[in-house]
Amino acid sequence: MSVPSIDWSTLGFSYIKTDYRYLSHWSQDQWDAGVLSEDNVLHISEGSTALHYGQQCFEGLKAYRCKDGSINLFRPDQNALRMQRSCARLMMPSVSVEQFIDACTQVVKANEHFIPPYGSGGALYLRPFVIGVGDNIGVRTAPEFIFSVFCIPVGPYFKGGMKPCNFMISNYDRAAPNGTGAAKVGGNYAASLLPGSEAKSAGFADCIYLDPLTHTNIEEVGSANFFAITQDKQFVTPRSASVLPGITRLSLIQLAKDRLGLTVVEGDVPVGDLKKFTEAGACGTAAVITPIGGIQYNGELHVFHSQEEVGPVTQQLYKELTGIQSGDIEAPEGWIVKIQGA
Ligand code: PLP
Ligand code: COI
Repeated sequence: MSVPSIDWSTLGFSYIKTDYRYLSHWSQDQWDAGVLSEDNVLHISEGSTALHYGQQCFEGLKAYRCKDGSINLFRPDQNALRMQRSCARLMMPSVSVEQFIDACTQVVKANEHFIPPYGSGGALYLRPFVIGVGDNIGVRTAPEFIFSVFCIPVGPYFKGGMKPCNFMISNYDRAAPNGTGAAKVGGNYAASLLPGSEAKSAGFADCIYLDPLTHTNIEEVGSANFFAITQDKQFVTPRSASVLPGITRLSLIQLAKDRLGLTVVEGDVPVGDLKKFTEAGACGTAAVITPIGGIQYNGELHVFHSQEEVGPVTQQLYKELTGIQSGDIEAPEGWIVKIQGA
């Protein structure tokens, strides 16, 4: 076991090799029992479908250190179910919810010393993935698969964390109308690299995609969902077949309704309606809640609440969500899987 010399206060979102990762291999119609491995390098066939045809999907979830030393996994069942849907879309075998949560639990326990301390603002980010492997060349589903989970200690994904960032509306699409936008598959992210890089070069945190059919409605950020707040306290978020159904978004919908008393509106969010919103944000496991200061559209920067200060509703949502995740605020039933610390 290595003792990490990590400055928890300056953690960003970068790869750090931790001690153990979980590996399970699928062949002859079943997953094997799975092992923890110290080797962070995969040895796979050059004919693997993951390498040529993008037959792979992934997940992202976090483990949080609580005040009493225990560890919280946030809604891992939802990640397991989403990974099952991604696998089905790409003709990969399903990993059961039980195996998924067991793999995550094993990885958290084996790398417990990498969990950022309570109060540091960091968390242990888990990255489960399934890839098609084995000798192959035709465009068909792979003969074998690997399910793996690794972890890294992380801080904020967008620079500054809970600080307003500017985003720009992209002219590119990340997904097709009946494509794989709702699945968490690598191809969507490969398609977002160039638009994201152009947005960053232009001084924005990232870009926001419009719906690929009409280019009139806001869909999402390349790495997070979009929400906005109206003057009359509506929580507005896009619903579309090409948006990734985020677990943070799902959770905020419930918290907005049940704990903040907001009216939730899911549906088309016309990009022409930006002026109706008093606050906006990007939400996701990595992004947590990143306040959107302004959105650049058609050559104009539309500023919401402020570019310096976080809006009051966004602030409340952030407090509720992160309080639940780190065990300070009571969670709705079934949201937390407890892992006892050593
Ligand atoms: N949309 C995209 C494209 C993402 O990559 C993510 C991150 O996982 C999200 C939305 C938010 O999903 P979640 O809240 O489940 O992390
Ligand atoms: C996540 O929030 O888990 C993501 O997958 C976003 C990004 C790191 C791709």
